[in-house]
Formats: sequence, C-alpha cells, structure tokens
Amino acid sequence: MKTEEVTPIKIEKTTSSRIGQVDFDKLVFGSVFTDHMFVCDYVDGRWETPQIIPYQPLTLDPSARVFHYAQAVFEGMKAYRDDNDGIWLFRPDENFKRINRSSERMAMPVFPEEYFFEGVKTLLKLDEEWIRKGEGNSLYIRPFVIATEPSVMASPSNQYKFVIICSPAQSYYGGEVRVKIADHYSRAASGGIGYAKAAANYGAQFYPTSLAQKEGYQQVIWTDANTHEYLEEAGTMNVFFRIGDTLLTAPTNDRILDGVTRKSVIAIAEANGIKVEVRPVKVSEIIAAAKDGSLKEIFGSGTAAVINPVAGFGYGDEKFELPKMDKPYASMIKKLIVDIQYNKAEDPYGWRY
Ligand code: COI
Repeated sequence: MKTEEVTPIKIEKTTSSRIGQVDFDKLVFGSVFTDHMFVCDYVDGRWETPQIIPYQPLTLDPSARVFHYAQAVFEGMKAYRDDNDGIWLFRPDENFKRINRSSERMAMPVFPEEYFFEGVKTLLKLDEEWIRKGEGNSLYIRPFVIATEPSVMASPSNQYKFVIICSPAQSYYGGEVRVKIADHYSRAASGGIGYAKAAANYGAQFYPTSLAQKEGYQQVIWTDANTHEYLEEAGTMNVFFRIGDTLLTAPTNDRILDGVTRKSVIAIAEANGIKVEVRPVKVSEIIAAAKDGSLKEIFGSGTAAVINPVAGFGYGDEKFELPKMDKPYASMIKKLIVDIQYNKAEDPYGWRY
C-alpha cells in the first residue's frame, strides 16, 4: 500500500469527563462512549490532518452520500487491561488491513497505516481510564468510514470521514444463544460485499433476524444464497461446528467475513491438537450429525462476542438441542485466546500489540 506523508494529530481534550456517570458493572454493549473520538476528513483527494476531539455528534449535510447509498464501512477491535495495567490490542494489523479491503470494495479511499495506529494509540492513552481490569472487561474500538459529500448522485463520494469511537464493553451476548439456519433469506451473494465489513451487510440482516427472534432465536446462521445448502456465517460471528472431535468451519470467500477471531480459533485449535477442517459445511450433514448424536458443539467467534456457544438451533420447523459437554472446545479455545488478549499467557503467535 502507498504510504502517505503524515502530519501529527491535533488534540483537543475534553474539559469535563463523563466517566463518573458510567456504571461499569451494568454496561449494555455499544451504548456508552468514552470522552474522545478520532476524526480525519478526506477532501480533494487526500486525508487531512487527523484530530482527536471531545466525543460529540457529527454534523452532516442531509444529502451526504452515506445516507443514500450506504457507502460506509467499519471495524471492531478491543483493548484489554492486564493485571499490571498494561494495555493491549489483539492483532490490530488485521483490522487495519481489513478496513482498507472493505473500503476498496465500497469504492472508498484507503486510510494511511500511520494515522490508523497513531490514532488508536493516542485515543487509548487519553481515554485509558475507561479500560477496566478483569476478564470480560474491554474497550470496544469502532473505527468507521462514511461518505460525506453532499450529493445524491449515485456515484462514489469525493469526501469521506474516518472516525474512531470507543465503548467500554463486557459481553456481547449474555450467554449461550439459539440460532436459526436460514432457508430463505440470504446475507451475501457471490461477487457481492459479504467479505467486507460494510455497514449495509449488517443492516440487511436486521429484518430476517427479527423474524428469527420472534421464534425465540438470537441469531441466524446464513447459508449460501444459491442453494441454502451450505452453512456460511452467523450475523455477527463466524461459526464452528464440532462433529466428534473435529472442528469444521466454512472457508472464507467473497461472501464470508475473514474474521480475526475465526483465524485465531483455527490456529489455536490446531496448535492444541484439535483436528480442524476448513471446508464447505453442508446443512444436511449438521442435521444428520445432530440426529445421530455426533454433533457435539456449535459456537460463534467474533471480536465483540469472542467465542459464544450455541445451545440449540432450528431448521425449518425442526428444533435441535446441543449436548452439554464436560470439556467443550468453545471454553477451552476461548480461555487460550483470552489469556493471550489479557497478557496472562505467552503469545507465541505475536498477536498481542
Ligand atoms: C464485531 O465483532 O466487531 C462485530 O462486527 C460485531 C458487531 C456488528 C457488533
């Protein structure tokens, strides 16, 4: 990638922190934000001087293209505080590369690496107090890019805003989830934007997910749009199936998000002697395995959710419960990942930053 000349970040600190108003023991995911935000505008073919300013509303023209054509991408990362007050990120280079891959797919300009890392680091130093100690506590970092040019012309914007906001977080789901396997709606099409963290990929799931929620499920496991025969990913997570002692997950392609937690799960599972098959997974084989008792676990992986076990799933009118395992892979792999994230274990992979 082309490296642009970067200028130092302009910083305006808040004069009154809101941290005293926050109950850190009762956080609803993504609803409380720290004192500062990072903003950088793209105008006349270049990114301007980045700024960190007090967290505040953005003012946009109603014709800004993001509102009309969903030219918007985002990322999700987390910062963790260890027992000695060290602050760590987990594989942030992967998020940086992915936001630029997403931007390219949405005809948006790539963001300079130096700005991204300086922006995240400076923001975390300013809002460090918002990162609480203790496993499960983290600061969810949400970088995003939106098309800001005032024009409803259906073509790429010439102006953009790159923003980073941060939200203290605990768990995303309150525990095990139940999922519905999609047999009608689809999340992504071949040649489409499924692999990008495009805002529209998420918005488009809300309606079918709300239908599944009415049936008592929290999430949908999406299947391929052409045949609905192959399992792809869950709404906010990649998804793993354990049949016998083997872990299965779909290979990434242009319909599936290349999840950072997903690839960490694969590496950790393999390093710990678990057989992992990254291959197309048929709905019919999961149903057959559920019926003959060889389906032991399903779990989702993602930055927000970390690793979330699935208690049961539905397909058509049928409902299936997963067995309670003594030593589930989900908890074992989660612990190995979380120990690296919180600097409680060696990091042979060099993932901690
Ligand atoms: C993440 O794990 O960062 C996600 O993308 C989930 C988010 C949509 C809440």
